[in-house]
This record gives sequence, structure tokens and C-alpha cells, in this order.
Amino acid sequence: MRKLYIETYGCQMNVNDTEVIFSILSEHGYQRTESIDEADVIMANTCSIRDNAEQRIWGRINQFNIQKKKRRATIGILGCMAERLKDALLESGKVDVVAGPDAYRSLPDLLEAAADGHPQINVELSREETYGDIKPVRVDTNGVSAFISIMRGCNNVCSYCVVPYTRGVERSRDASTIVREACDCFQNGYKEVTLLGQNVDSYYFDGINFANLLARVAEISPLLRVRFSTSNPQDISDEVIETMARYDNICKHIHLPVQSGSNRILEKMRRRYTREWYLERVAKIREVLPECGLTTDVIAGFCSETEEDHKETLSLFEEVVFDTAFMFYYSERPGTLAARKYPDDVDIETKTRRLNEIIELQGRMSLKSYRRDIGKTFEVLVEGPSKKTDKELCGRASNNKMCVWPDTEHKAGDYVTVEVMDCTSATLICREKK
Ligand code: 5AD
Ligand code: SF4
Repeated sequence: MRKLYIETYGCQMNVNDTEVIFSILSEHGYQRTESIDEADVIMANTCSIRDNAEQRIWGRINQFNIQKKKRRATIGILGCMAERLKDALLESGKVDVVAGPDAYRSLPDLLEAAADGHPQINVELSREETYGDIKPVRVDTNGVSAFISIMRGCNNVCSYCVVPYTRGVERSRDASTIVREACDCFQNGYKEVTLLGQNVDSYYFDGINFANLLARVAEISPLLRVRFSTSNPQDISDEVIETMARYDNICKHIHLPVQSGSNRILEKMRRRYTREWYLERVAKIREVLPECGLTTDVIAGFCSETEEDHKETLSLFEEVVFDTAFMFYYSERPGTLAARKYPDDVDIETKTRRLNEIIELQGRMSLKSYRRDIGKTFEVLVEGPSKKTDKELCGRASNNKMCVWPDTEHKAGDYVTVEVMDCTSATLICREKK
């Protein structure tokens, strides 16, 4: 048995990919270890979404090389950064194996060949690979909530985004394998599955669309919660929203990245919707699902963004009142449409200042959104003890907000009814409702 250590960076999709990698390699004589000091193979499943994500990983590669010298460990770089940088990673002399997101089935061969001291690379992208038949080895989970990939790749080509280049064209996984995996999870004690894709609304396999798939997974058991991510404003359909309304166990939360509030910038970003369209979708969601949680992503300081454009983003945030937002400043990614077509012309001070203004505003909006829940009653799925004390439990309400409450009776995986007493801008402070 060779000991295998993997660090995962980036999105939930990468977390699930790491589980697929453990599954593939465990069939070939590799055993997982959590300790880098005893590993024979050290790998990072990487992210390229912004430059600082890659810089962090370069730092880790240098650290790995200290281990490599000490213990002759094999170093592997997987995922998006492997796909983007390809040979450049091998040329650094610090990496033995480079494998892109569609090349994980070849990892056993690559590792074996690299063991002779010949660096190996496979960054071929596929039109078909979905790893649909592979049963992920869920290792770092809380045993309550599992990720299930339903598709891979992306056909959207937003001008700032590296993902279509690193993860290739969009393809949907066979629905029957998804339902089987969700059933398996439920039988193994999981109480929540999150269906993952870059653009879940364009899921389509053999006559089954995303709304149909959601319904099928929801029908496994009323005790299995279903979540999903990510939706795109131009594609989220009334059918999906209405399907959410039909099933109590489909959680009422939508992550709907807006990226900018300015139509001029949205067009340059190649987002195929306008501010008005986005606001209409939000209105529809809130009409059909009044208690639905809503979160977003936003980019400050995209190419040519003016003060005017930035103010439109701020006003959209005031208007919508998201529960939470993931906020970034624009980082140019080589090879993307924006990098080829538009100068990265907003200086770093301005980007940072605008980002901070969005963060400050969103802080107030989060508090506003969380305060609206005071006095409400929620069914919460227990994830485990709270961060502060083991006399308190934490878990999410259907709307995805984190709840904490004093409790020494229940355990992870139980459903508990709580009443919201107070809040911060990120947590609902509750008590159990008996
Ligand atoms: N620069 C900054 N943020 C980016 N994102 C994607 N590409 C970039 C980039 N080049 C953000 C988007 C996306 C989230 C996952 O990362 O907001 O929704
Ligand atoms: Fe995930 Fe995108 Fe990062 Fe790739 S680049 S790991 S798809 S967030």
C-alpha cells in the first residue's frame, strides 16, 4: 500500500473530484493518509479562478518539495491549474505528475510511470467523461451532507472566466447514476445532498431536465434534503422554481451569481442577461418561494468599470438584500476573452476600494436579512457542535442560514425545530422549540 495525501483547493466540484480520485486510486493500492509527513504521494487538486488562488498553490508546491527531498515522495498537481499551466508545471522541476480534470482515470498509470523518475502529464479534455460510474470515497465530510456532481465543464464563456478552458465543454451525467448515488448516500446515513454543476439549469440527459432530476432526487425520501449549485440568471427556469415549491425537502436557497449591476459591464462580461432580467428572476423566486434564501457572487473592477457602473452594483445590492455574497475584485486570467480583448485598466487601489465598499454594504444587508428571521421557526439539520462550545449545536435552515442553539441531546443528522431569538450578520441564534 502506498500512502496518498491530497489537499483540495477551490470549489465544491473540486471537493467531489478529490473523492473520485480517492476512489480510483484506492482500487490501485493507494491508502489515504491525513498526514503529509507519512505520504508516498502528495497531491494538490487545484484552482485557477483567480491569480491569488494559483499563487497560494505555488507556495504549497515549494513546501511539497521539502517533503520530496526528505522522503522521495511523488508530487502530483491535479485539476484546473494543471489544465491551465500544463507543461510549465513539469518544467518547474518541482512536480512529477500533472493531470487535468478529465484525466483522473489515468492517475494509476501516471503515478506508476512517474515512480521511475520520468515526469508524466495528461491534460486531455474529454467530451464524454463524467465519472458517472465511480463511487466517490467521501472522506472529509461530516457524514450528514454530501456533494454529487451532475455535470462537468461549462459552455458559457463568460469573458472573465477560466473555467471553460480548464474544465472543457459541458456534459451531463446519466440521471440514473445520480439517483443511485443519492440513494446510496441516504442509505449510508447522509441526510442532505448538494447537486453540483457550473450551470445546473442546463442539465439534460435522455429527456430529463434539471427540474425533473431535482424531483427524482427529492422523491428518494422526505428525510433527504436536496440542495444545488450553481444557477445562472439567464437559465433558471420557472419549472425549477416551481419544482422547489412542490417538495418540502428541496431546500429553499438559490445561489444566483450576479457579477455586476451594470448592463454595460454585464455585456462585456458576456453574461447573457441584464440587470432588469436579474431583478425579474429575483422577483419571481420571491413570489413563488417567499422564504427562499438568496446568495450571490460579484466582481468589482472589471475592465473599463466606471464609478457609475460600480454604483449600479451597489444599488442592486441595496435593492435585492442578499443573505450573503462572495465578493472578489477582477483578476485577469490569461487566455480568456477579456484578457485578449480588454485592458485590465482599473487600478488595484480602485478595485480594492470598490470591493471594500461592496463588502461594507453587504455586511449591512446581511444583518438586515438575518434580522428578518428573528421570531421565525425553522427545521434545522444538525451538522455537529458549534464552533464555540460542545454544549451548542449548529446546522442550517432550509434557506441555508447557519443556526446555533444550546443542545446536548441531539446529534449530527437529526432534524431539530428551532426558534430564532437573535442574530449576527452570519448566524441565527436560536433556541429549541419543543
Ligand atoms: N476574477 C475575479 N473573480 C472571478 N470569478 C470568476 N472569474 C473571476 C476572475 N477572473 C468569480 C465569479 C464567479 C466565482 C466563482 O468567482 O464571481 O461566480
Ligand atoms: Fe472550481 Fe473554477 Fe477553481 Fe476550477 S477554477 S477549481 S472550476 S472554482
